[in-house]
Amino acid sequence: MKITVVGAGAVGATSADNIARKELASELVLLDIKEGIAEGKALDMTQTAALFGFDTRITGSTNDYSKTANSDVVVITSGLPRKPGMTREELIGTNASIVKGVTENLLKYSPNAIIIVVSNPMDTMTYLTLTTSGVPKERIIGMGGILDSARFKCYLSQTLGCSPNDLNAIVVGGHGDTTMIPLIRYATWNSVPVTEFLSEEQQQKIVADTMVGGATLTKLLGTSAWYAPGAAVAALVESIVRDEKRLFSCSVSVNGEYGQSDICLGVPVIIGKNGWEKIVDYKLNEQEQATFSKSANAVRNMNDVLKTL
Ligand code: 2OP
Repeated sequence: MKITVVGAGAVGATSADNIARKELASELVLLDIKEGIAEGKALDMTQTAALFGFDTRITGSTNDYSKTANSDVVVITSGLPRKPGMTREELIGTNASIVKGVTENLLKYSPNAIIIVVSNPMDTMTYLTLTTSGVPKERIIGMGGILDSARFKCYLSQTLGCSPNDLNAIVVGGHGDTTMIPLIRYATWNSVPVTEFLSEEQQQKIVADTMVGGATLTKLLGTSAWYAPGAAVAALVESIVRDEKRLFSCSVSVNGEYGQSDICLGVPVIIGKNGWEKIVDYKLNEQEQATFSKSANAVRNMNDVLKTL
């Protein structure tokens, strides 16, 4: 198994670090446009192998895509991260051309790879990849909902005073501060609805905190987060390479599910060796469906910006 991570910034490097530690690949390539950064971080990670006990060969490359040849999975984290006060959507102008160029270069050498898109605005970058690459839709997965769901569980566990491992909770919709939809009605604490234990006010706060989960970190860090995004990428890669068939929320091309088409949005999907294998299309209530449609409209407006670039 060969995996490439493009972008050796904080998110890309943390993703690569987790992929190596979990031994998800025999070969891992980290690539960046900045001279020496990918090589340096790859060597630094390689020097942890004897300490963590993994056996993945990690190499770095400054923009030489031939090193990524025959990758099974590629992860695109390239582009600018957001700064405090910025929305993910404000990055579209710069990141669209970067993501398009990176995808073209990757596909020259790995035409059969499964592509994981992390760059923001993620749903629109996933849609851009879908509409410009010619890659079958099942092999294009946007990483957002899995991260937002982990943040949702974090805030739920803090309020409930319980282990996040006993929680089941999912965030669907867009990966944006105003477009994500933490489905609290479906969240359970070991099968018991969390709504049994939380006041209306507590529920609203958890949902609101989840939606700005990334923005809160950007404010604290001065740039976007990397530990949880890197862990979320690794969980997604793991489900692909081990064919685990995990049910995650990912941004994928919907075709009528949840009343939407011609868009990539966060929906529950089964992830396995072929990419995303099946969208789980369950019935939202009227209010949730209305929120989902509103989220889709906002993402669609952002996708329309692609036409003006
Ligand atoms: C986040 O939410 C990077 O978009 C990513 O932290």
